[in-house]
Amino acid sequence: MDNFEYRNGRLFVEEVALERIADEFGTPVYVYSRDALERAYQSYAQALEGHDALVCYAVKANSNLAVLNVLARQGAGFDIVSAGELERVLRAGGDPAKVVFSGVGKQPDEIRRALEAGILCFNVESDAELDRINAVAAQLGVKAPVSFRVNPDVDAGTHPYISTGLKENKFGIDIDTAVDVYRRAAALEHVRVVGMDCHIGSQLTEVSPFLDAIDRLLALLDTLATEGIHIQHLDLGGGLGVCYTDETPPTPGEYIEQVLAKLQGRGYKLIFEPGRSIAANAGVMLTRVEFLKQTGDKNFAIIDGAMNDLIRPSLYGAYQEIIPATLREDGETKPWDLVGPVCETGDFLGKDRALNLQPGDLLAVCSAGAYGFVMASNYNTRPRPAEVMVDDNQACLVRARETLHDLMRGEQLLPEA
Ligand code: LLP
Repeated sequence: MDNFEYRNGRLFVEEVALERIADEFGTPVYVYSRDALERAYQSYAQALEGHDALVCYAVKANSNLAVLNVLARQGAGFDIVSAGELERVLRAGGDPAKVVFSGVGKQPDEIRRALEAGILCFNVESDAELDRINAVAAQLGVKAPVSFRVNPDVDAGTHPYISTGLKENKFGIDIDTAVDVYRRAAALEHVRVVGMDCHIGSQLTEVSPFLDAIDRLLALLDTLATEGIHIQHLDLGGGLGVCYTDETPPTPGEYIEQVLAKLQGRGYKLIFEPGRSIAANAGVMLTRVEFLKQTGDKNFAIIDGAMNDLIRPSLYGAYQEIIPATLREDGETKPWDLVGPVCETGDFLGKDRALNLQPGDLLAVCSAGAYGFVMASNYNTRPRPAEVMVDDNQACLVRARETLHDLMRGEQLLPEA
């Protein structure tokens, strides 16, 4: 975790004690460090200095407007997957000319909006989608910039739910038929072929699957070149892993160094779409212990955060460190299951965690800056948490906690008979 550290037994983010944030804004609450976000972005930007390259932050990882704004001010581009994400980027001051639009099911309205906004390109995932984009561009009398997401059939070696570059996955265009799609696109009147992209999975902790994918893409690009089809940019997607517990993924700098070595002399503009490696370790979720409940076999700590607030542990069996906001000197350390108030056995944020707990203690669930709040739901009619960004010694509310009124907005009773 960057920028989170204990000082005299109290956990700080930048210059602010996490206890102070919980007191001011309540719990559960997400807390992000501006400096950690900027440094993570810069680790990409600096590794790419002197190269024609663009870092398009994957908005899905954390789409809070303040997060997007901080990154836009650093010069980031954005990888979006919906018109909603596009609207967020625009509202946060992002440059539409630095936006790539990914995703397998773009709606006509979304395509239209993106064309009107003037995005950099569509990452096209199927033949049918190509036709749809061509048709919408024709209605507007423009040429849509397109890149094809090629599925290189490499094993990313990650969790099956977040592995995307295998033939059996729904993503991208089969590398064996990609030449045909490029040929067809080259002949269409309302698209302009500008790139090739791939995204093979998320939370990769090795560089080799990325390099294998590049090899396959380069072979395909060579074939295309013999047919006179040339592209300007190569987009390698996101996927670089982070340390949640004891993983040792390469740093962005190490990853990019190897990518640049492989692509030397090729002359393509490079695009990256990192999400997790920018945001995950820039945030925590704070939650308070409500009750301690010891049964014959188990020690349960019932906390006020739940699977609806942070679903990664329940959904993927993901491990995120859970640490106290204030270290205790009294009491004893025991194994605890940290469970929320939601009525599901799968509602846990951590199991068998060695902690020294008392009711009322504040805990930080680490590495929650990516795929945390964005995946939160209102299950059990629970308002989603507040989000706070810390900038040096300031803690700013960047999303108010939802109210019950927010939750029921838009619902209505049947008319009286
Ligand atoms: N580009 C594309 C086309 C993607 O599908 C994704 C993530 C990214 C970029 C960003 O990947 P990253 O750098 O964050 O690995 N909810 C899951 C992760 C799902 C990732 C989906 N695609 C989790 O919590 O682990």
